[in-house]
Amino acid sequence: MKPRGRFISLEGPDGSGKSTVIRGLQKALQERGVDVITTREPGGSPIAEQIREVILNVNNTAMDGRTEALLYAASRRQHLVETIIPTLDKGQWVLSDRFVDSSLAYQGVARQIPQEEVWTINQFAIEGQLPDLTLLLDVPAEVGLERIQKARGQRQYDRLDRESLNFHQKVRQAFLDLAAENDRIVLIDANMTYDAVIERCLEVIAERLN
Ligand SMILES: Nc1ncnc2c1ncn2[C@@H]1O[C@H](COP(=O)(O)OP(=O)(O)O)[C@@H](O)[C@H]1O
Ligand SMILES: [Mg+2]
Repeated sequence: MKPRGRFISLEGPDGSGKSTVIRGLQKALQERGVDVITTREPGGSPIAEQIREVILNVNNTAMDGRTEALLYAASRRQHLVETIIPTLDKGQWVLSDRFVDSSLAYQGVARQIPQEEVWTINQFAIEGQLPDLTLLLDVPAEVGLERIQKARGQRQYDRLDRESLNFHQKVRQAFLDLAAENDRIVLIDANMTYDAVIERCLEVIAERLN
């Protein structure tokens, strides 16, 4: 029987490079003979993707912060049960674009929900099944926002309003605090070239998971 696969999550604010890096990591790991899938949150399974649509629907302006936190946790539960665990059981690795740390980092900043309370509902959802390793892609707030705006073809920097910069800074700090408290989370300087970020991630994976 194949040994159980490894579960790696990628975390970090918008624009830190998660979605880009996850594709490069999958390719690099496959070249090294690792059977690995990529997935994302919210979503990552048929039911979880339906929950994602409810969460991200811009018409849902009446969405309560705690409802939203519960929906993220519900989506995560379904993703775990329907996609992540069966994949790991088959011996494949799982790379997930966001997991529980995003809820911990964002719900406090965006919705002012105490982190312990977010953790409580997420413990219910994941039953202790944390990633084997979490790569936290870290970039200064200005860099993340600049990348997002560039990708959208917008004028940069001068267009950044103070609110989004402040929000981004708080999310970044929340992630840095989580990394400081959890040995599972490894900080990656993502303010480097794409190739350098991939190389560093592969080094950390080799150190931590081999
Ligand atoms: N290391 C990097 N250097 C410069 N630009 C990058 C780097 N990594 C990603 N990008 C660009 O930044 C933008 C946001 O990247 P993305 O992977 O979508 O971030 P995230 O998924 O974390 O929001 C994309 O346009 C991407 O091409
Ligand atoms: Mg992304």
